[in-house]
Amino acid sequence: MADKPRLWITRKLSDATLERAARDYDTVVNLADTAGSADELIRASSEFDAIIPCHSEHFSAEVAARLDTRLKIIANHSVGVDHCDLPALKARGIAVTNTPDVLSDATAELAMLLMLGAARHAVAGDRIVRTGAWDFWSPSFMVGKQLTGARLGIIGMGRVGRAFAAKARGFDMEIHYYNRSELTPEMAQGATYHDSVDSLLGVADFLSLHCPATPETTGLMNAERFGLLPQGAVIVNSARGALVDEEALMAALDAGQVAAAGLDCFQTEPGGNPAFAAYDNIFMLPHIGSATARTRDAMGFRALDNLDAFFAGKTPGDLL
Ligand code: DGY
Repeated sequence: MADKPRLWITRKLSDATLERAARDYDTVVNLADTAGSADELIRASSEFDAIIPCHSEHFSAEVAARLDTRLKIIANHSVGVDHCDLPALKARGIAVTNTPDVLSDATAELAMLLMLGAARHAVAGDRIVRTGAWDFWSPSFMVGKQLTGARLGIIGMGRVGRAFAAKARGFDMEIHYYNRSELTPEMAQGATYHDSVDSLLGVADFLSLHCPATPETTGLMNAERFGLLPQGAVIVNSARGALVDEEALMAALDAGQVAAAGLDCFQTEPGGNPAFAAYDNIFMLPHIGSATARTRDAMGFRALDNLDAFFAGKTPGDLL
């Protein structure tokens, strides 16, 4: 029997994923669970036929140029692939896959949490109860913004955007979206299409970002665009930190143009933006949109499905 392909798994994936990987591949797992450095990725490329990385491992053009020809496939354990220079990897003949679909519901659920938490003072409310400082109540106390009937603008109506829209319909929100192309009526489910981001922003009492980070979308929400939102809008980002100009967001919060933000993604990760800590109206989580047990298994299995197809000589379902 031919030797099993050698596989390096850069982070501690779910138990079920690691068991299946160990069964089918000659697998080494980085159980220290630290992000793989450029040097580690380059070294691994001469020892392994395949790598399953996460968005924490950066395959830049410089790294791609130095990868050994032994490495044949990078089967990402993520839907986002902004950590991979795809043209540079393609030029080296390395296949790259991702894990779409399986994390859409978990991420949409988290976006809903962010939207609700931002709209209803979750940070300040939790703190005042937790610290024992809650000694007052009034009808004018911690008055938030209601979702029901409000206009929700979604930028990016891919799988996660549509899953989020489906959940928002349960809150009777009026859904508007911007996408590179208009959806079919079956997919749009009554959502109103805007052919430009700027047009969408004008009606977005709540705004949720669901597009990938690319050179075109970097800094998408800048000072000018925050200014196009209705006064007191709430913004949610569960996609990528690069989409938001963080200085401009703080200026918009200071001005009251944006009432609150719910953020799972930051320009600097891990870590986030320390200046955000001064804002009780920013409800923050540490990039855990897809972090449910069920979704972690599904992401791991999807990455392994892609590897299995590749090593069986077939085209992986999620080849980019
Ligand atoms: C993704 O899959 O892109 C999530 O952000 C987690 O990496």
